[in-house]
Amino acid sequence: EQTINASIVLFGATGDLAHRKLFPAMFQLYQKGQLKENFAVVGVSRKEFSHEEFQTIVADAVLTHSHVSDKEALTQFASHFYYLKMDVTDAISYHELGNLLDQLDRDYRTDGNRMYYMAMAPQFFGTIPGFLKSEGITDTSGWHRIVIEKPFGKNLETATELNEKIQKSFDEDDIYRIDHYLGKEMVQNIQVIRFGNAIFESIWNNKYIDSVQITSSETLGVEDRAAYYEKSGALLDMVQNHMLQMVMLVAMEPPGKLDTKHIRDEKVKVLRSLRFYNELEIGENVIRGQYREGTINGEPVQGYLEEENVDPQSKTETFVAAKLYIDNFRWDGVPFYIKTGKRLNTKSTEIVIQFKQGPMSLYRANNVNHPPNLLRIHIQPDEGLSLSLNAKPHGDNMNLLPIDMSFCNNCHNEVNSPEAYEKLIGDCLFGNSTYFTRWDEVALSWEFIDSISRAWSSGELPPPASYPSGSMGPIEADDLLLKDGFTWWDPANLRRS
Ligand code: BG6
Repeated sequence: EQTINASIVLFGATGDLAHRKLFPAMFQLYQKGQLKENFAVVGVSRKEFSHEEFQTIVADAVLTHSHVSDKEALTQFASHFYYLKMDVTDAISYHELGNLLDQLDRDYRTDGNRMYYMAMAPQFFGTIPGFLKSEGITDTSGWHRIVIEKPFGKNLETATELNEKIQKSFDEDDIYRIDHYLGKEMVQNIQVIRFGNAIFESIWNNKYIDSVQITSSETLGVEDRAAYYEKSGALLDMVQNHMLQMVMLVAMEPPGKLDTKHIRDEKVKVLRSLRFYNELEIGENVIRGQYREGTINGEPVQGYLEEENVDPQSKTETFVAAKLYIDNFRWDGVPFYIKTGKRLNTKSTEIVIQFKQGPMSLYRANNVNHPPNLLRIHIQPDEGLSLSLNAKPHGDNMNLLPIDMSFCNNCHNEVNSPEAYEKLIGDCLFGNSTYFTRWDEVALSWEFIDSISRAWSSGELPPPASYPSGSMGPIEADDLLLKDGFTWWDPANLRRS
């Protein structure tokens, strides 16, 4: 394994993301030897802590949120952490940061490499990079990379403003915009499944594929994030980023090479071919929903409008289902159905490729329709792949019986897939930005999303359809497919029948 020499500045070090995901991810990198002696982390926030207190916080967070077999290693790991209370809007406080980093560069021989991780409130995403540059923090001879968490803006306009600010201080190549779905094992596997298997790639087009479904359902509700969620809703929270990213990976053309530029070039072309709808078409093709009270795993839960800090009149959507078209040679006429929502009956993310029916009239006796061939890519919680085929049942009967060929990465053994954040932090430290989003991707996805937000806020379209918590979402989402002769194949749906 290669090892990285660097210091990491973590803005938002006392936040939830740092505790649940970032500290455990860094510890995994440490256990793998990718971070070793020559690294230091400076946690920054507005609260008051000593270095020692911060080290205890870090160790506790790792113990709580990941599996630790070697406590000694954890103590060693935590000793690399330092803390600085900062007002990030005040130039002076960056001098202290600079001094501390210079000291750590010497003590830990980090080669002056620095990664800046923005895991804090988005209103500071634009401010901090400017100060990092103007106050000379980015002047050392090593590399300087900045990681930006979501949300990257609220629409195209604010995203563009933010981007312009960041690009004044960092080159595009050094800007790592996070979409944590891109760090998921099976999301990264999509390209290998497609381009590593002749049997799939040769039929991966509108001649053989009937439809594509991408669903990401959650059982969780809005939790304690109403302040953020009320303004974002499922469209901005999930569709603008995670869902469209999965669409791009399923639909992209094979890249000329497996490098960052080629892959991202092909992804962005998918967005350029995405069909934009007018308001009427949005009403027909983009369904929004909002959960009401119901039961999740046998426990009663309240509706969205009753959640703390939610406006009782709120029109914020907690569910989106949509039919998308990619108007290019490969996908002409193939609907891409996407669906995501909170408080649904199961937590799962899955991509289903539905193949067209072959000339199977031989087996269509008695007018029985046979199930189509499906390729399912299970993103989570199971990580794997399954292919539904038809075969003959045991015995004399010459009928078709659906069978499943399946492979599961994480079902039967002790394989523990690296968490998305571990991969992404590792990628950034090693300078690989393939699984981060490039500005043109982000801009185009906002343009598309803005067209939907605008139509929704015009007041002409029906408000979000209500669905009971613990269900599959509003009936309108089922109708969206039914009128095209399809049904949802995701696990949430199977559980209903
Ligand atoms: C985040 C959203 O980006 O993704 C959350 O802000 C959502 O609302 C989460 O719950 C889902 O991620 P995962 O990895 O649990 O599917």
